[in-house]
Amino acid sequence: QQARQPEIEQKHELTSLAAAREAVQDCRRCPLYEQATQAVFGEGPAQAEVMFVGEQPGDQEDLAGKPFIGPAGQVLDEAIEKVGIDRRRVYVTNAVKHFKFEPRGKRRIHQRPDMGEVQACRFWLNLELQFVQPRLVVALGATAAQSLLGKSSVTISKLRGQPMEMEDGAVLLVTNHPSYLLRIPDAEGRQRERAKFEADLALARDLLA
Ligand code: URA
Repeated sequence: QQARQPEIEQKHELTSLAAAREAVQDCRRCPLYEQATQAVFGEGPAQAEVMFVGEQPGDQEDLAGKPFIGPAGQVLDEAIEKVGIDRRRVYVTNAVKHFKFEPRGKRRIHQRPDMGEVQACRFWLNLELQFVQPRLVVALGATAAQSLLGKSSVTISKLRGQPMEMEDGAVLLVTNHPSYLLRIPDAEGRQRERAKFEADLALARDLLA
């Protein structure tokens, strides 16, 4: 269940994307705010036609306050550019707005958000969906797919390549998370998965045409 936080609605009038972006810094709906540097809200034009939804900010995103600026973001940027989706039509965000990690020495090791954290953060993703009203939503990886489908278990390989309709009428496409591509050890496997990722993004481009 989503923890309610009425003081957010008292302090902030959540009537625009800009207001939501400011209010998210006061979010206490789950404990992840305690460790993170800041909440990382989505970025892109308020009238974007396609919304890419990742998992959560990583180390660099947490420090910079912007989504997908690290290695995963580079993979995503390259694929968007390669298939020819116009950046001006793209809004990029995450299912969870705070970085979840485990400190290990000087490093901060990414931890996957649990379903409670994902559900708590749907509040903010819902606001982004409501204000941006994208025609197409692309779930990058299982956490985003869980959030958007409201299911605790999803299998990317079974869902990818099949546009689905969301409750608000937007089309949902599911694909892998770009970090997954970075973790594949052999070059051949990496190449193969990158091609599949690009094929999913090419489908996204065609759905927007
Ligand atoms: N991975 C994500 O899912 N989101 C980011 O913003 C960065 C890395």
